[in-house]
Amino acid sequence: MKIAIGSDHGGFELKSEVIKHLEENGLEVEDFGAYSTESCDYSDFAEKVAKEVVNKNFDFGILICGTGIGIGIAANKVPGIRAALCSDTFSAHACREHNNANILTMGARVIGKGLALDIVDTFLNSKFEGGRHQRRIDKIAEIENKYNK
Ligand code: RB5
Repeated sequence: MKIAIGSDHGGFELKSEVIKHLEENGLEVEDFGAYSTESCDYSDFAEKVAKEVVNKNFDFGILICGTGIGIGIAANKVPGIRAALCSDTFSAHACREHNNANILTMGARVIGKGLALDIVDTFLNSKFEGGRHQRRIDKIAEIENKYNK
């Protein structure tokens, strides 16, 4: 499984822990920045990772900022991205099973390392259930098409 990961300065340290964890578990990870805790703009890294995921160069994306909110809002502007902010493991499997989320976002100022790694594992090990959930996702795509002119 190939993972594209990104953060702003607020998520840099937690991102480093997530990368280490994923590599220790044999996953292929590419870091699209930021590469330090120097102040930067989360939208830049959201777009880079989102582009890689919609272009199918990676199976999933992981984005981390201070809250996980800004970076997720930005990623969700890319058509085809379904970025889900998770601060608990229930949401981490539900967003895969029901929403077919393709990017996980987390807030480094919201959750600790232990929970973050559990959320990552839960997200990556959960599968989309399809069925009625596919119909709902198709309707999200219809909204994108309607407003992306
Ligand atoms: C950066 O200070 C902070 O605003 C950012 O990491 C994030 O929390 C925004 O949503």
